[in-house]
Amino acid sequence: MNRQPTKTDNKSVGNKIFIRNHAIKNLPEVNVLDLFGGRNVLWKNISVNRYYGVESEKDKGQNLCADSHSILSSLDLSKFNVIDVDSYGISFDIYKYLLTSSQVRNGTIVIYTVITNEFTKIQNAAKDEFGFRAFYDKAPSLFNARAIEFFYEMLSKYGVKEVSYYEVKDNFTKHYGYFQITH
Ligand SMILES: C[S@@+](CC[C@H](N)C(=O)[O-])C[C@H]1O[C@@H](n2cnc3c(N)ncnc32)[C@H](O)[C@@H]1O
Repeated sequence: MNRQPTKTDNKSVGNKIFIRNHAIKNLPEVNVLDLFGGRNVLWKNISVNRYYGVESEKDKGQNLCADSHSILSSLDLSKFNVIDVDSYGISFDIYKYLLTSSQVRNGTIVIYTVITNEFTKIQNAAKDEFGFRAFYDKAPSLFNARAIEFFYEMLSKYGVKEVSYYEVKDNFTKHYGYFQITH
C-alpha cells in the first residue's frame, strides 16, 4: 500500500519547472509574483529578473509571510508580468481577481496548479460564480468532481481563449498550466 500526505509542496518538481520555463520563454523580462512561494524551490531553478514570494507559513522560504487570499488586493500587481498560483486545491477567488483586476497588465502570464477529486471541497467563490451555493451541501461530491470543469469555464467567461497544461492523475486530478491575461 502506498501512503503519502495529500498536501505535498512539489510532487512534480521537474514538470512544474518545465511548464514555467515554457510559459516565460518569449518574455523579454521576467518579473514574478509567486503567491504560494513555499520554499521557493521552483523559481530558484529558473532565471528571472525579479522575484517576489508570498507564503503563509512563517520561516518557510524567502517570502513575505502573509495570506495571499487576504493581501492580494493590496499588492501592486502592475509590477509583475508573471503571477504564479501554485496553491493546494483551486484558488477560484484568486483567479477571478486576477482575471478581472485592471491592475493586472495585459499579457501577464498566470501559472496555475489545480488539484481536485470528489472529496476536495470547492471554494465559495466558485459556488457563487456558478450559482450552486444553495445546493452544494445536498450532493457535494457531484460538484467537487466537476471543479476543474468550473475552473476552465471561469477562465473562458473572463476572456481566456487558450491554456497550455498537462494533466497528472493519481488519487487526484491535477492540472499544471498557464494562460495569458487579455483585457
Ligand atoms: C504547492 S506549495 C508551493 C511550493 C512552491 N511553489 C515552491 O516552489 O516551493 C503551496 C504553498 O502554499 C502555502 N500556502 C497555503 N495557503 C496559503 C495562503 N493562504 N497564502 C500563502 N501561502 C499559502 C503552503 O504553506 C505551501 O508552502
